[in-house]
Formats: sequence, structure tokens, C-alpha cells
Amino acid sequence: MEAIFTRRSVRSYSDEPVEKEKIDKLLRAGMQAPSAMNKQPWEFLVIQSKKTLIDLSKMSMFAKMVASASLAIILLGDYREGQSQKFFPQDMSAASENILLEATELNLGAVWLGVHPISQRQKYIKDLFKLPEGVIPFSVIAIGYPKNKESNKFVDRYRQDKVHFERY
Ligand SMILES: Cc1cc2nc3c(=O)[nH]c(=O)nc-3n(C[C@H](O)[C@H](O)[C@H](O)COP(=O)(O)O)c2cc1C
Repeated sequence: MEAIFTRRSVRSYSDEPVEKEKIDKLLRAGMQAPSAMNKQPWEFLVIQSKKTLIDLSKMSMFAKMVASASLAIILLGDYREGQSQKFFPQDMSAASENILLEATELNLGAVWLGVHPISQRQKYIKDLFKLPEGVIPFSVIAIGYPKNKESNKFVDRYRQDKVHFERY
């Protein structure tokens, strides 16, 4: 699948807005992810307001590019009914990666910004959006049209020494 091999973290974006249809596809891709016991614990907070993007870019010193992104999608786990959070990281990672791959497919650039398990970043998002108890921030994905058209490109990471057949 081409998107797997060409996806890169893209951190600089043009001013071109991302079309509504593409945002819809990104969200659909996130929700299409596998999840433990098919619980689909995710929620998606879509941010397009410049002011809020700037606020969000202050989450950490590694999130500055959010200020120049066309949009950000914040992935949240919804555990308000006291469900088990045992597979929270796996479920939310699968949804995050699906969004990155769909972004690549749609000629967008995106980068995954880690939130969980850094409690300081989680608190920043909880406070910024006044999230209810039990709604847990997991990741932020900054998205836009890449400034540099070559942004998503193949880098070979295959390493034969990482592979074990039959025995270790
Ligand atoms: C859990 C996780 C957290 C990450 N957090 C950040 C981040 O805070 N800021 C950032 O610029 N990139 C972040 N990245 C992107 C990685 O730096 C990037 O995936 C890695 O350098 C490999 O480059 P590539 O995505 O272009 O293949 C994160 C990636 C993952 C999977």
C-alpha cells in the first residue's frame, strides 16, 4: 500500500485550507480502525479556528507547527461510563495511524503529536477544552497541505537484522 511507504511527518504547511470532504474522509479513516472488543472508544475534536490552533501549539515545545496547520484533530478516549482503559493506547494508536495514512492518500501532510501518557500535555488539553471527567486526550494530529510538495516520500527503513524467522 503506497501510503504506508510514502507517509512522513510533515511539519510545515501552506495556507490552503483542507476541504470539508477531506476532513470527513480523515474522520472516517480514524473510525475505521480496529479496537479491542470493537469498543471504538474514540472521539475526535476537529480544530480549524486559528486562535485555538495557536493555543494548542503551546501544548509542548514539540507542537509549535500546529499554529500554522490548517486543522488539528485531537483524539480523545471516551471512558465516561467507566469502561476498562486497558487497551486505550492500542485503540487510539490504530485510529491515529489510520488518519495519518488517509492524510497521505489525500495529498495532505500530517504529523502525530504525542499527548498520552504525558500528564502535563493531557491536562493542558483537558483545561483548554474543559473536557468532562472520563474523556482522555491521547494524541493531536496537525494537518495541512504541505509547503514542500516532496514532503511525503519513501525512506527505506527495512532492516533484515530486525527479522527472525521461526527462531530467535
Ligand atoms: C507517539 C508519537 C509521538 C510523537 N510526538 C511528536 C511530537 O510531539 N512532535 C513532533 O514533531 N513529532 C512527533 N512525532 C513524530 C515522530 O517524530 C516521527 O514519526 C518520527 O520522527 C519518524 O519520522 P516520520 O514520521 O517522518 O516517518 C510523534 C510520533 C509518535 C508515534
